[in-house]
Amino acid sequence: MTTPLRLGIAGLGTVGVGVIKIVRQKANLLAARTGRPVVITAVSARSKGKDRGVSLDGYAWEDDPVALAKRDDVDVFVELIGGDEGPAKDAVEAAIASGKDVVTANKALLAVHGQALAEAAEASGSLIRFEAAVAGGIPVIKALTEGLAGNGITRVMGVMNGTCNYILTRMQDAGLPYDEVFAEADALGYLEADPNLDVGGIDAGHKLALLSSIAYGTKVAFDGVELEGIQRISIEDINQAEELGYRIKLLGVTQMTGRGLEQRMSPCLVPFDSPLGQLKGGTNMVVIEGDAVEQVVLRGPGAGEGPTASAVMGDVCDVARGLRLPTFGVPAAELEEVTPAQSNSPAPYYLRLQLLDRPGAMAKVTTALGEAGISIDRMRQSQHDGGSAPVLIVTHKTQRSALTAAIEDMQGTGVLENAPVALRIESV
Ligand code: HSE
Repeated sequence: MTTPLRLGIAGLGTVGVGVIKIVRQKANLLAARTGRPVVITAVSARSKGKDRGVSLDGYAWEDDPVALAKRDDVDVFVELIGGDEGPAKDAVEAAIASGKDVVTANKALLAVHGQALAEAAEASGSLIRFEAAVAGGIPVIKALTEGLAGNGITRVMGVMNGTCNYILTRMQDAGLPYDEVFAEADALGYLEADPNLDVGGIDAGHKLALLSSIAYGTKVAFDGVELEGIQRISIEDINQAEELGYRIKLLGVTQMTGRGLEQRMSPCLVPFDSPLGQLKGGTNMVVIEGDAVEQVVLRGPGAGEGPTASAVMGDVCDVARGLRLPTFGVPAAELEEVTPAQSNSPAPYYLRLQLLDRPGAMAKVTTALGEAGISIDRMRQSQHDGGSAPVLIVTHKTQRSALTAAIEDMQGTGVLENAPVALRIESV
């Protein structure tokens, strides 16, 4: 009889319940695929009595996840608690110190403490696996570390927050303003307990920082991710972008350049007929570019019980099979220190202004752009509504710093009704 792989699950929310269902319902399949039974021996959560719709019979209960992590009858500590500090971190550290392997869905924990945890795991002979932390059900970590291991990765891009993509596509499809769709997403339970993690781009930024580390063999550098959320995106921008042939997406881009590592998570315009432009609702997409493979596009559900549990179980099955890889694809001691790029690659920008109806106002705008070295590709002014008119400008490629300088200059001339909206147009 082969030795079973024994799981201890901490956190019995949506994902934990999904993992229990797979382990129970697919016991034979898992054993056939991994060569050994996969069983749950113990669980832990905040409330023991809660009805979760699955039986916990046969599993030992621990109130304290740290105690669960240290149990002798647990081989793999499955951390589904969340958060970059507190019980999740304490329990993962305890599991590693006890020589257990860890499977986690916790992007925040690894984005903030990934290097220290990877070093600790390698010192104790433990594994940390985190497929479920990035892009839900899409096996992107596996694709980067294994399937694409023969490539120098040149760029990774992704829409990796389903809630933001839901909000942006719902605004577009229903013609609704941001605040109304945000309230809908809240009522549907799509938002994190702290909604800023979603709409402020932080959750997606954590995921991007993890992908950067794996793609380039660098230490996780969440601090180096330039973050901008979707809170300022208006239905007007969505409609104008559509007329120009673009869609607005909260897009993550990580790219190693001669100037250092560029990591951005920000609302961008992408061509509406590109795979990213066509992405609807809560679905995620990751685009990986490698020097040998050229481009690979992965698309799938970014959250939810089945998809996230699927990713957790992919990791569990790898542990059961005996696959032992370093946390971020290369040994922690060999991960290089990141030099963040001090400026972004040049790109065309979308600029929307509300221009006051004064003689010479447009000249002031075009002069400000010209003096910053920015050339205009397209420009349109609509009819005045009261004392001002909307103006749309698409620039040729420019540095963001030059555009910022031009916008400050324009604002100083007093011809703008309010702050302009500037969004990068990403070539995908
Ligand atoms: N809140 C995330 C999303 C799921 O909307 O994609 C967990 O990372």
